[in-house]
Amino acid sequence: MHINNILVVGSGAMGSQIGLAASLAGYATTIHDIAAEPLAAAREQIASRLDSSVAKGRLSRPDADAALARLSFTTSLEEGAAGADLVIEAATERLDVKRAIFAALDAAAPPHAILATNSSTLGSSKVAGSTSRPGKVCNMHFFNPALVMKCVEVVRHPGTSQETVDTVMELARRLGKAPVLINHEIPGFVANRLMGAIRDEALRLYAEGIATFEDIDTAAKTALGHPMGPFELMDLVGLDVSYLIRHATFAETGDPADLPHPALTEMYERGDYGRKTGKGWYRYGEAATAVK
Ligand code: 3HC
Repeated sequence: MHINNILVVGSGAMGSQIGLAASLAGYATTIHDIAAEPLAAAREQIASRLDSSVAKGRLSRPDADAALARLSFTTSLEEGAAGADLVIEAATERLDVKRAIFAALDAAAPPHAILATNSSTLGSSKVAGSTSRPGKVCNMHFFNPALVMKCVEVVRHPGTSQETVDTVMELARRLGKAPVLINHEIPGFVANRLMGAIRDEALRLYAEGIATFEDIDTAAKTALGHPMGPFELMDLVGLDVSYLIRHATFAETGDPADLPHPALTEMYERGDYGRKTGKGWYRYGEAATAVK
């Protein structure tokens, strides 16, 4: 199936970079959010990211201008979905919200459009039932920062059609990614389960006073060669995101071991979400530019 127009739902850290990746790859891309303010902030971040790529000599000025020109921003889901061949939903990690979005997308998007969710926890079978096109629904899970990280997990639910899988895998390749296919839904899929095992052990070591979180991060980088330590990574992903993922996973499994660690809950309740608020495990510069 041929894709020309892409709609990204949600203009947060993931949605805005997924949108930019799509426009850089030549797709006419619309980014939707429910409010004008986050959309304006996303547009500003995207423009400054393009400027910095030009300044680094990674992108020509005409190519940067063309990428920006291929992007539109809207607070109307119906308007954004009307001409979309493929939608990537990157809204908050809450099932009720995602179900409502998928029902609205199903009503507004053309019948041929594929509806994908960037969710890392909720398999698309949870939202496919809110649509009349379950065969055209799957997960397309990007990693933060979405512009840089090569992995995209394409996850099929039992009713996802082969054509949908092939189209989404091919789209990921055209975005410059190295997609991996996950054949069975499982909370966290593959990469987040690996990351979660390390993060949980890091939190345990920290909570037991075995080492400071800074030293645990240093060990992960210098002994294991990880680009970031687990605490730095939590700050990058967002402690709010990690907290909500744990709850969504617990809702799936019912296993108390999947609940967020008390240290994570405490920071979530304080509103210390990491880079995006200027404070998480570490402190960052100006909150508005915290996402590097
Ligand atoms: N957004 C966009 N681009 C960014 C960025 C950001 N937040 N941070 C860095 N970059 C870009 C830089 O601009 C630079 O681009 P250039 O090559 O064109 O100059 C490039 O990435 C490398 O950046 P730096 O040289 O400044 O820094 P590093 O080499 O340390 O790379 C990093 C930064 C890519 C973030 C690296 O530290 C890394 O890979 N960290 C691990 C990230 C990770 O594990 N992500 C997965 C999180 S799990 C997840 O997202 C799943 C979800 O479901 C929760």
